[in-house]
Amino acid sequence: MKYVYIKTWGCQMNEYDSSMIAMFLKKEKKYSITEKAENADILILNTCSIREKAQEKVFHQLGRWKKLKNKNSDIIISVGGCVATQEGKEIFKRANYVDIIFGTQTVHKLPYMIEEVQKKRKSMIDISFPNLEKFNHSLQPKVSGHTAFVSIMEGCNKYCSFCVVPYTRGHEISRPSDDILLEISILAEKGIREVNLLGQNVNAYETRAFNGKTCYFSDLLRLVSEIDGIDRIRFTTSNPLEFTDDIIDVYRDTKKLVSFLHLPVQSGSNRILRLMKRSYTIQDYENIVKKIKLARPNIQISSDFIVGFPGESEKNFLETINFIKKINFDMSFSFIYSSRPGTPAAEMKDNTSLSEKKKRLYILQNCINKQTMSWSRKMLGTIQSVLVEGVSKKNIMELYGRTENNRIVTFQGSPKIIGKFVNLEINKVHTHSLKGKLLLK
Ligand code: SAH
Ligand code: F3S
Repeated sequence: MKYVYIKTWGCQMNEYDSSMIAMFLKKEKKYSITEKAENADILILNTCSIREKAQEKVFHQLGRWKKLKNKNSDIIISVGGCVATQEGKEIFKRANYVDIIFGTQTVHKLPYMIEEVQKKRKSMIDISFPNLEKFNHSLQPKVSGHTAFVSIMEGCNKYCSFCVVPYTRGHEISRPSDDILLEISILAEKGIREVNLLGQNVNAYETRAFNGKTCYFSDLLRLVSEIDGIDRIRFTTSNPLEFTDDIIDVYRDTKKLVSFLHLPVQSGSNRILRLMKRSYTIQDYENIVKKIKLARPNIQISSDFIVGFPGESEKNFLETINFIKKINFDMSFSFIYSSRPGTPAAEMKDNTSLSEKKKRLYILQNCINKQTMSWSRKMLGTIQSVLVEGVSKKNIMELYGRTENNRIVTFQGSPKIIGKFVNLEINKVHTHSLKGKLLLK
């Protein structure tokens, strides 16, 4: 038996790819996953390059693993994900003890590559983009818990001027709807009650169904909602571009779709949105929000923000703050702009100092935190449907679960209800978590 240690950085896509890697290797029956790098024969690093900091960490981590390899030269070190796809062979140059470089679309080739390295003791690289090939190997998902991510499309064509994703994950390509529905049905049989449909731009989903008709994202949502056992549907991430009325209609018709939407806007300034090449205006964004609220009045919306984009003036920044207040966003993610080599924004003039950018981030996060807290406070005394996920990590006398709007609630109850939906009355509120009391149905 060979022991494999997998370290994952980055987005849910990378988490998903890593769970696929674990599944492919376990299928070979000669590999076992370990939680300790020190015990491993095979070390796998799944990397992220969305911002500079994430990228920097790679060679520090590899340096630590080099020490393990110095003690045992049989150890195989593999680097995959976005940094591997972008840097390719350069990684061998900087870290010649690395054995395997694999890409975001070649995770299924890893068992073969490991075997070749073991046999020939020669390094290997495959960062190609064989369309959706990795999914041909993965229709028997392993399940733990009661929620699951399901990738429905890969890649991105939007080429926002700041972003590396189109270069590291390839172009948008949607998985066949029949494969997705089969996968979710298997998950439902294994006890999954909530699915999160994954993709860089899930609302660009488009494929041809078995009957020859085009299946759009809205069609897919409706089909997933018909699967017995699946009672809650989320998706990550959607884009304001192509957020069409047929998707909004699903909010009207399908209760299983949560009243919570993560819709990254990035900036509240039309000038900056144009420079970012986001292809929508804040008025377009507001219109989407208006229409969704008509279909689902209690919807809560979260977002991603970039501060300090090249050329962002104080005025543009304040437009973003005003927009945050206007939409009344719930908990959101925010980042200081990070220049990524090879992207158009990296060539733009950037006169704002880092300390000014940090100040803007601080102000923006403060504003969002206040709004998050006020959304949480509004939940006090309300009854919330929660999918019970397990025993609380902080207090073994309590259980925990998630509300539709993604807040963790802890409460007292019997472990027998793990995996079930229950109603809780919210009786205590913290910014990101809540306490509740179990109500009998
Ligand atoms: N598909 C999603 C974004 C995926 S990347 C969308 O359309 O919005 C996740 C988030 O990382 C982005 O929303 C953005 O806020 C942030 N991000 C991406 N590139 C960045 C960069 N160069 N610097 C700072 N933040 C970045
Ligand atoms: Fe990146 Fe824009 Fe696509 S942020 S993932 S290029 S939509």
